Amino acid sequence: MEHQSAIDPERTKRLIAMGEMAASLAHEIRNPLGSMELFCSLLKKDLGTQPDLLYLAEQIHKGIRTLDRVIANSLQFVRNSAPQRKRVESARALIDELVEDVLPRAQSLGVSIEIQSLSDGEINVDAFQMRQALLNIVTNAVEAVDERRRRDGSGATSGADVQIVSRVVPTSVWQVSVADKGVGIHPEDESRIFDPFFTKKERGTGLGLSIVYSVVVAHGGTVEVETGGEGTKFVVSVPAASGPEVQGAR
Ligand SMILES: Nc1ncnc2c1ncn2[C@@H]1O[C@H](COP(=O)(O)OP(=O)(O)OP(=O)(O)O)[C@@H](O)[C@H]1O
Ligand SMILES: [Mg+2]
Repeated sequence: MEHQSAIDPERTKRLIAMGEMAASLAHEIRNPLGSMELFCSLLKKDLGTQPDLLYLAEQIHKGIRTLDRVIANSLQFVRNSAPQRKRVESARALIDELVEDVLPRAQSLGVSIEIQSLSDGEINVDAFQMRQALLNIVTNAVEAVDERRRRDGSGATSGADVQIVSRVVPTSVWQVSVADKGVGIHPEDESRIFDPFFTKKERGTGLGLSIVYSVVVAHGGTVEVETGGEGTKFVVSVPAASGPEVQGAR
């Protein structure tokens, strides 16, 4: 399995520049998109008795909603720069919460998720940002397992499809790994997965991992990727406390 740290100053610079561009684009697109959505719903009401035309309007509405998701994610990606750190009593509880968000989708796809907390404890992070970042990683893991099942059929596997392991070293580091038994990442894509808008999914925005990257960098942490034929593992490490003596802890 290949093992690679994703943190790189050039990438961070590139992300900041792209973030600024995304912010101005998002702003320009949002207003007309809002009107389109409104007019489209009105149109759908009027077309209630004409199924063929209603179908066309629904397709337009779907496209509008996808665009809206791209915009919402872009804005979030940009807003991520300054984490508001607060004391979070239990890292484990934060993981439980975010897994609850993805569980309905995972269950409907038949993907199992296991959470293991090697050592729980207090952390000092922006809970909203970290929850979002880890949710993006777990969502990708679930989607990768689903993609593999579609490709290979649902053969029996031992253990959970997605395994999350959390470990808090008090006042030093909080490490979370998310390992999946999914399709894996092609070697030629590995350097691009954190780029904004890089996606191989039909309805993807390609912003999930760029949000992960900017959140982790803003927390002074690292993210590593290991991937191969047997799936993918992301390892996120952030300082568990924000005091000066532990800022650089890894
Ligand atoms: N766990 C994983 N296994 C396999 N491929 C992955 C995994 N995580 C990410 N990828 C690849 O990296 C790409 C970028 O991921 P990212 O989360 O940034 O965007 P996305 O998932 O395509 O779109 P969105 O997050 O908006 O749904 C994915 O399209 C996929 O090809
Ligand atoms: Mg994603």
